[in-house]
Amino acid sequence: MTTAPARAHLDLLWARGRALLGTPTAIMGGAMSWVSERTLVAAISNSGGFGVIACGSMGPDLLAAEITATQALTDKPFGVNLITLHPELDALIDVCLRLQVGHVVLAGGLPSGPSIRRLKDGGAKVLCFAPAVALARKLIRLGVDGLIIEGAEAGGHIGPVATSVLAQEILPAVGQHVPVFVAGGIGRGEAIVSYLEMGAAGVQMGTLFVCAHESIAHPAFKAAFIRANARDAVPTVQVDPGFPVIPVRALRNKGTEAFAETQRRVIERVRAGELDQKAGQLEIEHFWAGALRRAVIDGDVETGSLMAGQSVGLVKEEQPTRVILDTLVAQAEAAIAARAAEAAHAPATAAAPVVADPVS
Ligand SMILES: Cc1cc2nc3c(=O)[nH]c(=O)nc-3n(C[C@H](O)[C@H](O)[C@H](O)COP(=O)(O)O)c2cc1C
Repeated sequence: MTTAPARAHLDLLWARGRALLGTPTAIMGGAMSWVSERTLVAAISNSGGFGVIACGSMGPDLLAAEITATQALTDKPFGVNLITLHPELDALIDVCLRLQVGHVVLAGGLPSGPSIRRLKDGGAKVLCFAPAVALARKLIRLGVDGLIIEGAEAGGHIGPVATSVLAQEILPAVGQHVPVFVAGGIGRGEAIVSYLEMGAAGVQMGTLFVCAHESIAHPAFKAAFIRANARDAVPTVQVDPGFPVIPVRALRNKGTEAFAETQRRVIERVRAGELDQKAGQLEIEHFWAGALRRAVIDGDVETGSLMAGQSVGLVKEEQPTRVILDTLVAQAEAAIAARAAEAAHAPATAAAPVVADPVS
Protein backbone atom coordinates (compact mmCIF):
# COMPACT_ATOMS: atom_id res chain seq x y z
CA MET A 1 0.00 0.00 0.00
CA THR A 2 1.38 3.42 -0.90
CA THR A 3 0.80 6.52 1.20
CA ALA A 4 -2.41 7.63 -0.54
CA PRO A 5 -4.48 4.49 0.21
CA ALA A 6 -3.02 4.34 3.74
CA ARG A 7 -4.13 7.94 4.31
CA ALA A 8 -7.56 7.12 2.86
CA HIS A 9 -7.82 4.22 5.32
CA LEU A 10 -6.70 6.45 8.21
CA ASP A 11 -9.26 9.07 7.21
CA LEU A 12 -11.93 6.38 7.32
CA LEU A 13 -10.79 5.25 10.77
CA TRP A 14 -10.96 8.73 12.29
CA ALA A 15 -13.79 10.11 10.10
CA ARG A 16 -16.19 10.68 13.03
CA GLY A 17 -13.52 12.49 15.05
CA ARG A 18 -12.62 14.74 12.10
CA ALA A 19 -16.29 15.48 11.45
CA LEU A 20 -16.89 16.49 15.07
CA LEU A 21 -13.77 18.67 15.24
CA GLY A 22 -13.86 19.96 11.66
CA THR A 23 -10.16 19.20 11.17
CA PRO A 24 -7.94 17.25 8.72
CA THR A 25 -6.75 14.96 11.55
CA ALA A 26 -8.58 13.79 14.68
CA ILE A 27 -5.64 14.69 16.93
CA MET A 28 -6.56 17.03 19.77
CA GLY A 29 -3.83 19.02 21.49
CA GLY A 30 -5.01 18.54 25.08
CA ALA A 31 -5.35 21.74 27.07
CA MET A 32 -2.38 22.28 29.38
CA SER A 33 -2.61 25.08 31.95
CA TRP A 34 -0.05 27.85 31.20
CA VAL A 35 1.18 25.97 28.09
CA SER A 36 -1.92 25.88 25.89
CA GLU A 37 -2.28 29.55 25.09
CA ARG A 38 -2.88 31.37 21.82
CA THR A 39 0.46 30.55 20.10
CA LEU A 40 0.50 26.79 20.63
CA VAL A 41 -3.26 26.41 20.16
CA ALA A 42 -3.18 28.28 16.84
CA ALA A 43 -0.08 26.35 15.73
CA ILE A 44 -1.80 23.01 16.40
CA SER A 45 -4.96 24.05 14.57
CA ASN A 46 -3.02 25.57 11.67
CA SER A 47 -1.08 22.29 11.33
CA GLY A 48 -4.16 20.07 10.95
CA GLY A 49 -4.79 19.20 14.60
CA PHE A 50 -7.29 20.65 17.05
CA GLY A 51 -5.83 23.10 19.57
CA VAL A 52 -7.56 23.67 22.91
CA ILE A 53 -7.04 26.76 25.09
CA ALA A 54 -6.54 25.91 28.78
CA CYS A 55 -8.69 28.36 30.72
CA GLY A 56 -7.30 27.07 34.04
CA SER A 57 -7.84 29.76 36.65
CA MET A 58 -8.29 32.65 34.15
CA GLY A 59 -11.24 34.93 34.77
CA PRO A 60 -13.76 35.87 32.05
CA ASP A 61 -11.85 38.93 30.78
CA LEU A 62 -8.54 37.10 30.41
CA LEU A 63 -10.27 34.18 28.70
CA ALA A 64 -12.03 36.54 26.28
CA ALA A 65 -8.68 38.16 25.42
CA GLU A 66 -7.06 34.75 24.86
CA ILE A 67 -9.88 33.54 22.59
CA THR A 68 -9.84 36.76 20.56
CA ALA A 69 -6.04 36.57 20.19
CA THR A 70 -6.26 32.94 19.06
CA GLN A 71 -8.95 33.82 16.51
CA ALA A 72 -6.54 36.40 15.11
CA LEU A 73 -3.87 33.70 14.62
CA THR A 74 -6.02 30.99 13.06
CA ASP A 75 -9.21 30.65 11.08
CA LYS A 76 -9.24 26.90 11.82
CA PRO A 77 -11.38 25.24 14.51
CA PHE A 78 -10.09 25.24 18.09
CA GLY A 79 -11.67 24.68 21.48
CA VAL A 80 -11.62 25.97 25.05
CA ASN A 81 -11.13 23.79 28.13
CA LEU A 82 -13.08 24.96 31.18
CA ILE A 83 -12.65 23.53 34.67
CA THR A 84 -16.11 22.77 36.09
CA LEU A 85 -15.00 23.72 39.64
CA HIS A 86 -14.16 27.27 38.50
CA PRO A 87 -16.20 29.69 40.64
CA GLU A 88 -17.07 31.77 37.55
CA LEU A 89 -17.97 28.85 35.27
CA ASP A 90 -21.23 30.43 34.09
CA ALA A 91 -19.50 33.66 33.11
CA LEU A 92 -16.78 31.68 31.28
CA ILE A 93 -19.47 29.79 29.37
CA ASP A 94 -21.01 33.15 28.40
CA VAL A 95 -17.62 34.31 27.07
CA CYS A 96 -17.24 31.17 24.93
CA LEU A 97 -20.74 31.56 23.50
CA ARG A 98 -20.38 35.30 22.87
CA LEU A 99 -17.13 34.74 20.99
CA GLN A 100 -18.62 31.78 19.09
CA VAL A 101 -16.14 29.17 20.25
CA GLY A 102 -17.11 26.03 18.36
CA HIS A 103 -16.12 23.43 20.97
CA VAL A 104 -15.90 23.49 24.75
CA VAL A 105 -14.21 20.75 26.76
CA LEU A 106 -15.52 20.52 30.33
CA ALA A 107 -12.87 19.09 32.65
CA GLY A 108 -12.14 18.59 36.34
CA GLY A 109 -15.27 16.81 37.58
CA LEU A 110 -18.67 15.78 36.31
CA PRO A 111 -20.30 18.77 34.59
CA SER A 112 -23.88 19.70 35.39
CA GLY A 113 -26.72 19.09 32.93
CA PRO A 114 -27.55 22.83 32.79
CA SER A 115 -23.92 23.72 31.86
CA ILE A 116 -23.98 21.22 28.99
CA ARG A 117 -27.43 22.35 27.85
CA ARG A 118 -26.52 26.05 27.89
CA LEU A 119 -23.42 25.44 25.80
CA LYS A 120 -25.32 23.33 23.30
CA ASP A 121 -28.25 25.74 23.09
CA GLY A 122 -25.70 28.48 22.44
CA GLY A 123 -24.34 26.54 19.45
CA ALA A 124 -21.15 25.00 20.91
CA LYS A 125 -20.20 21.34 20.71
CA VAL A 126 -19.45 19.86 24.16
CA LEU A 127 -16.82 17.27 25.03
CA CYS A 128 -16.38 15.81 28.51
CA PHE A 129 -14.05 13.40 30.27
CA ALA A 130 -15.54 9.99 31.08
CA PRO A 131 -13.63 8.11 33.79
CA ALA A 132 -15.93 5.03 33.77
CA VAL A 133 -18.64 3.40 31.63
CA ALA A 134 -21.54 4.44 33.88
CA LEU A 135 -20.43 8.08 33.77
CA ALA A 136 -19.90 7.88 30.00
CA ARG A 137 -23.51 6.71 29.61
CA LYS A 138 -24.73 9.48 31.91
CA LEU A 139 -22.85 12.14 29.93
CA ILE A 140 -24.31 10.80 26.69
CA ARG A 141 -27.81 11.06 28.19
CA LEU A 142 -26.96 14.67 29.14
CA GLY A 143 -26.28 15.33 25.45
CA VAL A 144 -22.49 15.59 25.09
CA ASP A 145 -21.18 15.52 21.52
CA GLY A 146 -17.99 13.64 22.31
CA LEU A 147 -16.12 11.97 25.15
CA ILE A 148 -12.47 11.91 26.15
CA ILE A 149 -11.12 8.97 28.12
CA GLU A 150 -7.82 9.71 29.80
CA GLY A 151 -5.70 7.02 31.41
CA ALA A 152 -3.27 7.19 34.30
CA GLU A 153 -0.25 7.47 31.97
CA ALA A 154 -1.23 11.08 31.18
CA GLY A 155 0.42 14.21 32.51
CA GLY A 156 -1.38 16.47 35.00
CA HIS A 157 -4.37 15.37 37.12
CA ILE A 158 -5.04 11.69 36.58
CA GLY A 159 -7.41 8.86 37.39
CA PRO A 160 -6.30 5.45 38.64
CA VAL A 161 -6.91 3.33 35.50
CA ALA A 162 -4.50 2.78 32.58
CA THR A 163 -5.46 4.07 29.12
CA SER A 164 -5.34 0.56 27.65
CA VAL A 165 -7.87 -0.73 30.19
CA LEU A 166 -10.19 2.30 29.96
CA ALA A 167 -10.18 1.88 26.18
CA GLN A 168 -11.22 -1.76 26.48
CA GLU A 169 -13.96 -0.91 28.98
CA ILE A 170 -15.40 2.20 27.40
CA LEU A 171 -14.92 1.97 23.62
CA PRO A 172 -17.00 -1.20 23.09
CA ALA A 173 -19.68 0.10 25.48
CA VAL A 174 -20.27 3.58 24.09
CA GLY A 175 -17.92 4.09 21.11
CA GLN A 176 -20.75 3.58 18.63
CA HIS A 177 -22.97 6.23 20.28
CA VAL A 178 -20.62 9.25 20.39
CA PRO A 179 -17.08 9.90 19.13
CA VAL A 180 -14.59 8.96 21.84
CA PHE A 181 -11.06 10.42 21.98
CA VAL A 182 -8.38 8.43 23.80
CA ALA A 183 -5.74 10.27 25.86
CA GLY A 184 -2.81 9.30 28.05
CA GLY A 185 0.51 7.84 27.05
CA ILE A 186 0.17 8.32 23.30
CA GLY A 187 3.41 9.33 21.62
CA ARG A 188 3.48 7.67 18.21
CA GLY A 189 1.21 7.16 15.21
CA GLU A 190 1.15 3.36 15.63
CA ALA A 191 -0.61 3.80 18.98
CA ILE A 192 -3.09 6.18 17.38
CA VAL A 193 -3.99 3.54 14.76
CA SER A 194 -4.40 0.88 17.44
CA TYR A 195 -6.89 2.95 19.43
CA LEU A 196 -8.77 3.92 16.25
CA GLU A 197 -9.01 0.25 15.32
CA MET A 198 -10.44 -0.42 18.80
CA GLY A 199 -13.25 2.04 18.06
CA ALA A 200 -11.86 5.43 19.09
CA ALA A 201 -12.75 8.40 16.88
CA GLY A 202 -9.52 10.23 17.64
CA VAL A 203 -6.90 10.93 20.27
CA GLN A 204 -5.85 13.71 22.61
CA MET A 205 -2.20 14.35 23.41
CA GLY A 206 -0.56 16.84 25.75
CA THR A 207 2.96 15.85 26.74
CA LEU A 208 4.16 15.52 23.14
CA PHE A 209 3.28 19.17 22.37
CA VAL A 210 5.10 20.74 25.33
CA CYS A 211 8.39 20.92 23.40
CA ALA A 212 6.87 22.29 20.21
CA HIS A 213 8.76 25.35 18.93
CA GLU A 214 5.57 27.35 19.30
CA SER A 215 5.06 26.30 22.92
CA ILE A 216 5.84 29.20 25.27
CA ALA A 217 7.09 26.81 27.96
CA HIS A 218 10.40 28.05 29.43
CA PRO A 219 13.56 26.54 27.82
CA ALA A 220 14.41 24.92 31.19
CA PHE A 221 10.97 23.26 31.28
CA LYS A 222 11.48 21.92 27.75
CA ALA A 223 15.02 20.75 28.61
CA ALA A 224 13.66 18.77 31.58
CA PHE A 225 11.20 17.05 29.23
CA ILE A 226 13.89 16.22 26.69
CA ARG A 227 16.14 14.75 29.42
CA ALA A 228 13.41 12.71 31.13
CA ASN A 229 12.57 9.04 30.75
CA ALA A 230 9.08 7.57 31.04
CA ARG A 231 9.81 6.37 34.57
CA ASP A 232 10.60 9.91 35.77
CA ALA A 233 6.94 10.96 35.33
CA VAL A 234 5.42 9.76 38.59
CA PRO A 235 2.05 10.25 40.31
CA THR A 236 1.85 12.11 43.61
CA VAL A 237 1.03 10.09 46.71
CA GLN A 238 -1.95 10.66 48.94
CA VAL A 239 -0.59 11.25 52.43
CA ASP A 240 -3.89 10.62 54.26
CA PRO A 241 -6.43 7.98 53.16
CA GLY A 242 -9.17 10.03 54.86
CA PHE A 243 -8.49 13.09 52.70
CA PRO A 244 -8.77 12.20 49.02
CA VAL A 245 -6.60 14.29 46.74
CA ILE A 246 -6.60 13.87 42.96
CA PRO A 247 -3.14 12.58 42.02
CA VAL A 248 -0.98 14.54 39.58
CA ARG A 249 1.64 12.96 37.30
CA ALA A 250 4.79 15.07 37.04
CA LEU A 251 8.55 14.71 36.76
CA ARG A 252 10.00 13.98 40.18
CA ASN A 253 11.71 17.01 41.80
CA LYS A 254 11.69 19.06 45.02
CA GLY A 255 8.21 20.32 44.06
CA THR A 256 6.89 16.77 44.44
CA GLU A 257 8.11 16.76 48.06
CA ALA A 258 6.68 20.24 48.65
CA PHE A 259 3.31 18.93 47.54
CA ALA A 260 3.32 16.20 50.18
CA GLU A 261 4.13 18.92 52.74
CA THR A 262 1.27 21.14 51.44
CA GLN A 263 -1.15 18.22 51.69
CA ARG A 264 -0.13 17.64 55.33
CA ARG A 265 -0.54 21.33 56.20
CA VAL A 266 -3.96 21.58 54.54
CA ILE A 267 -5.19 18.39 56.21
CA GLU A 268 -4.11 19.70 59.63
CA ARG A 269 -6.07 22.92 59.03
CA VAL A 270 -9.15 20.97 57.90
CA ARG A 271 -8.91 18.76 61.01
CA ALA A 272 -8.52 21.87 63.19
CA GLY A 273 -11.72 23.29 61.68
CA GLU A 274 -9.92 26.23 60.05
CA LEU A 275 -10.98 25.07 56.53
CA ASP A 276 -13.78 22.84 55.26
CA GLN A 277 -12.94 19.91 52.99
CA LYS A 278 -13.87 21.77 49.78
CA ALA A 279 -11.79 24.82 50.69
CA GLY A 280 -8.90 22.48 51.51
CA GLN A 281 -9.16 20.82 48.13
CA LEU A 282 -9.28 24.22 46.40
CA GLU A 283 -6.16 25.27 48.28
CA ILE A 284 -4.40 22.18 46.97
CA GLU A 285 -5.49 23.04 43.43
CA HIS A 286 -4.11 26.56 43.89
CA PHE A 287 -0.82 24.99 44.96
CA TRP A 288 -0.68 23.19 41.61
CA ALA A 289 -1.64 26.23 39.54
CA GLY A 290 1.11 28.28 41.21
CA ALA A 291 3.72 25.53 41.04
CA LEU A 292 3.00 24.80 37.36
CA ARG A 293 3.18 28.49 36.49
CA ARG A 294 6.57 28.79 38.22
CA ALA A 295 7.95 25.89 36.19
CA VAL A 296 6.35 26.62 32.79
CA ILE A 297 6.68 30.40 32.76
CA ASP A 298 9.59 31.19 35.13
CA GLY A 299 11.61 28.04 34.42
CA ASP A 300 11.83 27.00 38.08
CA VAL A 301 12.26 23.30 37.37
CA GLU A 302 13.55 22.56 40.88
CA THR A 303 10.58 23.54 43.01
CA GLY A 304 7.90 24.17 40.37
CA SER A 305 5.61 21.45 39.03
CA LEU A 306 6.82 19.59 35.95
CA MET A 307 3.50 17.98 35.00
CA ALA A 308 4.29 15.37 32.36
CA GLY A 309 2.90 12.10 31.10
CA GLN A 310 4.87 8.88 30.70
CA SER A 311 5.16 9.60 26.97
CA VAL A 312 7.73 12.22 28.00
CA GLY A 313 10.27 9.45 27.29
CA LEU A 314 9.38 9.81 23.60
CA VAL A 315 10.10 13.54 23.53
CA LYS A 316 13.65 13.84 22.19
CA GLU A 317 13.94 17.37 20.83
CA GLU A 318 12.19 20.66 20.26
CA GLN A 319 10.34 20.58 16.92
CA PRO A 320 7.87 22.72 15.01
CA THR A 321 4.26 21.77 15.78
CA ARG A 322 3.70 20.92 12.12
CA VAL A 323 6.59 18.42 12.20
CA ILE A 324 5.20 16.78 15.34
CA LEU A 325 1.77 16.34 13.74
CA ASP A 326 3.12 15.31 10.33
CA THR A 327 5.35 12.70 12.00
CA LEU A 328 2.39 11.21 13.90
CA VAL A 329 0.35 10.99 10.70
CA ALA A 330 3.28 9.47 8.76
CA GLN A 331 3.77 6.84 11.49
CA ALA A 332 0.05 6.05 11.44
CA GLU A 333 0.07 5.70 7.65
CA ALA A 334 3.17 3.50 7.76
CA ALA A 335 1.54 1.22 10.33
CA ILE A 336 -1.54 0.85 8.13
CA ALA A 337 0.57 0.25 5.02
CA ALA A 338 2.66 -2.39 6.82
CA ARG A 339 -0.47 -4.27 7.88
CA ALA A 340 -1.85 -4.17 4.34
CA ALA A 341 1.48 -5.46 2.94
CA GLU A 342 1.53 -8.28 5.47
CA ALA A 343 -2.05 -9.24 4.63
CA ALA A 344 -1.24 -9.23 0.90
CA HIS A 345 1.65 -11.65 1.41
CA ALA A 346 -0.03 -13.95 3.91
CA PRO A 347 -1.01 -17.36 2.50
CA ALA A 348 -4.77 -17.66 2.00
CA THR A 349 -5.00 -20.53 4.53
CA ALA A 350 -3.55 -18.27 7.22
CA ALA A 351 -6.56 -15.96 7.04
CA ALA A 352 -8.36 -17.50 10.01
CA PRO A 353 -5.79 -18.57 12.56
CA VAL A 354 -6.90 -20.95 15.26
CA VAL A 355 -5.79 -19.72 18.66
CA ALA A 356 -5.35 -22.62 21.02
CA ASP A 357 -5.80 -22.18 24.75
CA PRO A 358 -2.47 -22.45 26.53
CA VAL A 359 -1.83 -25.91 27.92
CA SER A 360 -1.51 -25.69 31.67
C1 LIG B 1 1.62 20.33 31.81
C2 LIG B 1 0.21 19.77 31.67
C3 LIG B 1 -0.88 20.55 32.05
C4 LIG B 1 -2.18 20.06 31.89
N1 LIG B 1 -3.25 20.87 32.21
C5 LIG B 1 -4.52 20.44 31.97
C6 LIG B 1 -5.64 21.30 32.19
O1 LIG B 1 -5.50 22.44 32.60
N2 LIG B 1 -6.89 20.82 31.92
C7 LIG B 1 -7.09 19.53 31.44
O2 LIG B 1 -8.25 19.14 31.21
N3 LIG B 1 -6.04 18.71 31.21
C8 LIG B 1 -4.78 19.14 31.44
N4 LIG B 1 -3.71 18.31 31.13
C9 LIG B 1 -3.98 17.01 30.45
C10 LIG B 1 -3.91 17.18 28.91
O3 LIG B 1 -4.94 18.00 28.43
C11 LIG B 1 -3.99 15.84 28.17
O4 LIG B 1 -5.25 15.23 28.35
C12 LIG B 1 -2.92 14.86 28.61
O5 LIG B 1 -1.66 15.52 28.58
C13 LIG B 1 -2.89 13.65 27.68
O6 LIG B 1 -1.97 12.71 28.08
P1 LIG B 1 -0.40 12.73 27.66
O7 LIG B 1 0.22 13.75 28.56
O8 LIG B 1 0.05 11.36 27.95
O9 LIG B 1 -0.33 13.10 26.21
C14 LIG B 1 -2.40 18.77 31.33
C15 LIG B 1 -1.27 17.99 30.96
C16 LIG B 1 0.01 18.47 31.12
C17 LIG B 1 1.18 17.61 30.69
